[in-house]
Formats: sequence, structure tokens, C-alpha cells
Amino acid sequence: MRACYCCATMSAATSSASYKRGRKIVLVMVGLPARGKSYTARHLARYLSWLGYPTKVFNTGEIRRSQLGARQTHEFFDPANIEGLRYRRDLAQQTLDALISWLHEDGRVGIYDATNGTRTRRTEVRERCAREGFAVQFVELDTEDPAVIDRNVRDTKLNSPDYAGMEEGQAVRDFRRRIEHYRSTYEKVADDEGSFVRIVDRGRKVVLHEIDGYLPGRIVFFLSNLQISNRPILLTRHGESMDNVAGRIGGDSDLSPRGREYARALAAYVDSRDDLRDSVDVWTSTLRRTLQTAAPLNREISQWRYLDEIDAGSCDGMTYEEIRRKLPEEYEARRKDKLRYKYPRGESYQDVIQRLDRVIVELERYRSPVLVIGHQAVLRTLYSYFMDIPLQRCPHVEMPLHTIIELQPHAYACVERQIQLT
Ligand code: F6P
Repeated sequence: MRACYCCATMSAATSSASYKRGRKIVLVMVGLPARGKSYTARHLARYLSWLGYPTKVFNTGEIRRSQLGARQTHEFFDPANIEGLRYRRDLAQQTLDALISWLHEDGRVGIYDATNGTRTRRTEVRERCAREGFAVQFVELDTEDPAVIDRNVRDTKLNSPDYAGMEEGQAVRDFRRRIEHYRSTYEKVADDEGSFVRIVDRGRKVVLHEIDGYLPGRIVFFLSNLQISNRPILLTRHGESMDNVAGRIGGDSDLSPRGREYARALAAYVDSRDDLRDSVDVWTSTLRRTLQTAAPLNREISQWRYLDEIDAGSCDGMTYEEIRRKLPEEYEARRKDKLRYKYPRGESYQDVIQRLDRVIVELERYRSPVLVIGHQAVLRTLYSYFMDIPLQRCPHVEMPLHTIIELQPHAYACVERQIQLT
């Protein structure tokens, strides 16, 4: 966790706010515009969904645009504009209603993405959620760092339909006035408002108040590490191994001659890129085939046991055909539910997700480019997180050998390109 604990204020949960196991949660974003609320909300939704907690973001701006059309200039957000205020209250209410209905159906965590900048508004939200039986946790993003604000305005707001077709300078000025309208009534979350986490300056300082329970704790840990960063993440399977040639799963075999050729091609490719040559960090598993693939790169590598291939337990070293003949029930069970199926004395994809949680948090925290040399199941799992692939599809994602998948994180999604080397 990047948070400096000496700055963190941690208070024990009061019994009234105590989070009961399994209780549905409403995460209420709080912050002035351009503090990264939507970015954070979407990342959090992707992370929690990937961990298996159905999560969805409800954004007031989207509802506003769908009902009133885009192009509301700053006057609409002026607290002195009575009609604007009425509309905004109504939209905020509709957004919360939609979130609550969804949580009553199949949701586990609803993220309410709006400014929620006044104590009165937050009290209404908290009381309403309590009546519905949901736990509430405020997530306040607090920064006055001009670089962060400027970047948020340029990366996200100027691309928003609100400013489509408007000259950039004019759009920036209008947006800054919108921020000032919100600032005129803004109140930070106070200690008597219940459970909250305040992230100051993108994690330089983190204040925790009444954070109680496993899932709320995990949310806070993720938030404390999340950085806005647009460096590439490159995923590749190791070069072809002798077990790949024989069609055997698991094991710890060496690379085949073709696999060694790929390792050399990978090193030449990294050297050919100015943005990677001196700055890329290389992460491998602890298995020989990934270490041999990394060797020609001729640099320090980080070996992670978490990146080892799915543990096939008593099927390790077998071919799929052998499993089908000798253990037909296992074969059939895996075919029916590849996500949840657990090899005897081995792992399921769900288990792999749990152990890769550490790797994801580290990747979200990192600011330099990373090349992950891994294995089929492990890379499917990492890829599904970054590309927001529904869990059921994760075990079926194509993950070809001798191909680099380059992911370029942008404000709200990753852009992917595949580079086939041999
Ligand atoms: O076949 C290569 C391999 O990495 C095996 O070691 C591993 O068991 C398998 O891929 C994972 O893929 P799947 O989940 O499709 O069996």
C-alpha cells in the first residue's frame, strides 16, 4: 500500500455503521469535478467485478446528457440557478434510484458517481441507503494539484459530449467555471458522516474512517494504490516449451528450439523500442520456460510465484486426451464450468484470480512500462481484468504463443494491439 500510515487516521467502526458480512455496499463518490471520480469509479468497478463481486457505476452526468442533451454550459451548474438546481437534484435522485433497484436485483456493489459535495446531499443518500438495508462508504477524492486537475480536464472532460465541437480554450474556461460553482458550496466529508476513505493527492495521504470488514478493506487498499498512468503493459506467453510440443499441461519443461527463437525475437523487439529499451520492467513466473524466455533480454527480472501457471493438481503433466480417457468426470466437469472447476489438489480459474489480485494492485501502482512473461491461464486472467471481460469468458480468451499483447491504458479503457513475432 502506497499510503503513508503515519498520515492515516484510522478509527474503529461504531456499532451502528458496522459492516455485516455479505451486506450490499453503496460506494458514494465525493469530490469537486476533475478530481478523477469517474476514472476511479470505473477502475474500482472493473476490479471488483473481476474479483467476482457484481459491481456497476451509476453516473449522474450520463443521465443528465441522456435526458437534457449534452452542452450544458457552466451556468447550468451555478447554485444561484434555481431551475438548474432543481434539475440537478432530480437527476441525482434518479441516478440513486437506478442504483438502488439494481442492487436489489443482482448487484453487490453500486458506485454512485456524482459530486455529492454537500453534507445535506450525503445525509440524504446515507439515510436512504440505510432504509434500503445497504452499507454506505464515501470515497472522497481531494486534490488541489493543478497538474492532476489539468490532466483530468484535458484527458476526460474535453472529450466528453458536453464539449463536442467547442474550441479547446473555451471548453477549458467553461469547465473551470463549473468547478468554481461546485466549490462555492463544497463541504468535505466529516467524521460524523459515517464510513469514508479520503484519498488526498492521488494516494500521497489516505484518511480512513470507520472502515470495517473484508470487502471495504480491500476496496480501500486498491484505491490507495491506484495511479493514473498511461504507460504500456505488455503481456506475452513464454516461448513454446517442450511440454507444449508434446501437448502436456503444467510441468516445468525447457523451451523448444522454436521457443528459444521467440525469446531472441522478443529481446530484439524490446531493444528496438525507445519507450521500452531502458525503462521496461520484466516480470516472470518462477518456472523455467518464462525464465528462459526472459534470458536474452539480458536485464534484471522480477520473479513472481503468483505468476506461475494454473496448478493442474493431479492432472499435471497429462495431455487433455489423457484426462478425457482416464478421468472422464473431471474432463466433463471442466468442460461445463471452466471458471469454477478446480483440478483435484490443484486450482480453478477463480483461485488464479484471487492470487493475481496482488499482481493487479502492483500493476495499477506502477508507473513504468511492464513486460509480463507468463502462462496461458494467468495471462487470460490479467488480460480479462484490463479489458473488462466478463468472468465466464475469461478462461476462453485466445492467448496465442509467440505474440505480444500490448495494453495501453487510457482514461476509461485500455486499447489493445497484438504483435506477432515469429
Ligand atoms: O497448455 C499450456 C498451458 O499453459 C497449461 O500448462 C495449462 O494447464 C493450460 O495452458 C491452461 O489453459 P486451459 O485453461 O485452457 O487448459
